[in-house]
Amino acid sequence: MSTRRIVLSRSAAIVGAAATGWLLPATAGAQSAKLRVGLMLPYTGTYAQLGVAVENGVRMAIDQQGGKLGGREIEWFKVDDESEPSKAVENASKLVQRDKVQVLIGTVHSGVQMGIQKVARETGVLSLIPNAGAHAATRALCAPNVFRTSFTNAQITLALGPAMVARGHKKAVWITWKYAAGEEAFEGFKQSYPAAGGSIIKELGLPFPNVEFQALLTEIAALQPDAVACFFAGGGAAKFIRDYAAAGLKDKIALYGSGFLTEGVLDAAGPAADGIITTMHYSDSLDTPRNKQFRMEYAKTFRSQPDVYAMQGYDTGLLLVHGANAVQGDMEAKPALYRALESAVIDSPRGRWTMSRAHNPVQDIYLRRVENMENKVIGVAAKAQADSGAGCRMG
Ligand code: BEZ
Repeated sequence: MSTRRIVLSRSAAIVGAAATGWLLPATAGAQSAKLRVGLMLPYTGTYAQLGVAVENGVRMAIDQQGGKLGGREIEWFKVDDESEPSKAVENASKLVQRDKVQVLIGTVHSGVQMGIQKVARETGVLSLIPNAGAHAATRALCAPNVFRTSFTNAQITLALGPAMVARGHKKAVWITWKYAAGEEAFEGFKQSYPAAGGSIIKELGLPFPNVEFQALLTEIAALQPDAVACFFAGGGAAKFIRDYAAAGLKDKIALYGSGFLTEGVLDAAGPAADGIITTMHYSDSLDTPRNKQFRMEYAKTFRSQPDVYAMQGYDTGLLLVHGANAVQGDMEAKPALYRALESAVIDSPRGRWTMSRAHNPVQDIYLRRVENMENKVIGVAAKAQADSGAGCRMG
């Protein structure tokens, strides 16, 4: 076996539940100052719960690995990005320029991510994306110092079209919030649904984070499609599900979505969510020891059930521990740090995944159905799905 292969397989073996930092030599304490980690997440607004779940996941992963990064204690810095793109550059700059963070973890909202991406490209700070699916971050604007642990917006909906047609739903209306995440989710749907034999008869939208769905639901009823497909998330998703049922559509027109529609909202949505079918890179009900262990530990620690955002935060923590351990806490050893992050195999609650060349997860996409307030896996919609990474040139 070549040296490179030995290194890769050793690192692959340690990124997960069993990793305890054993690879660190005794010199690991040489980097004695605290490592400065910034969290830029939404803590207010419609995505507030998502931000909290991401932070919980990050902290839990790091705590499980001994609470240190490459042998160094951590100093945390936090900013509420409010899911507000117009403040994104200023907020990211506060963390990087003022607080001098060495790692910036954020964020949830694709529009805000573009501000972080600008700052990351200009300053070279290590940027870990724990949710936002904005395509450019791992396509045309990809960068050696930017790594995503979640998905691209189209990666999820590319798997949705064939699943709908296979159920006989060939005439659909698409509805979403009109911002990057919704528009890019539509890109994946527009590619996959007609290719499978479906036809999109109308595209509807409203500005983020508006939740006045009534007029659009009336329009859907008049259009009489076989199915509705959508992208909504957080508090707005719960309201969409309830309003859809209240408008009398639930038992008449099948509802599908990018899986965020039913993540972290099932308590708030109640029985109105039953029967919704979605595609997603995670499910609460994944019947693996890894997922069960993660869910039990999270519920014990935070007294709430984890969702996809918590899982992504958790994987972000695992990836960061892995990278920091590989360079013994010396985050300035950038080539070695990036090599470690690029070659990581994450033993995740979602199943094992790897980084694409553009630094986006290559991962399975599951088909799920809401049953008794749970996202139940009913199939694998796509195996080892990669984003195209179109236009990515690593500088
Ligand atoms: C986004 O803006 O990229 C996003 C937000 C919430 C869930 C999924 C994607």
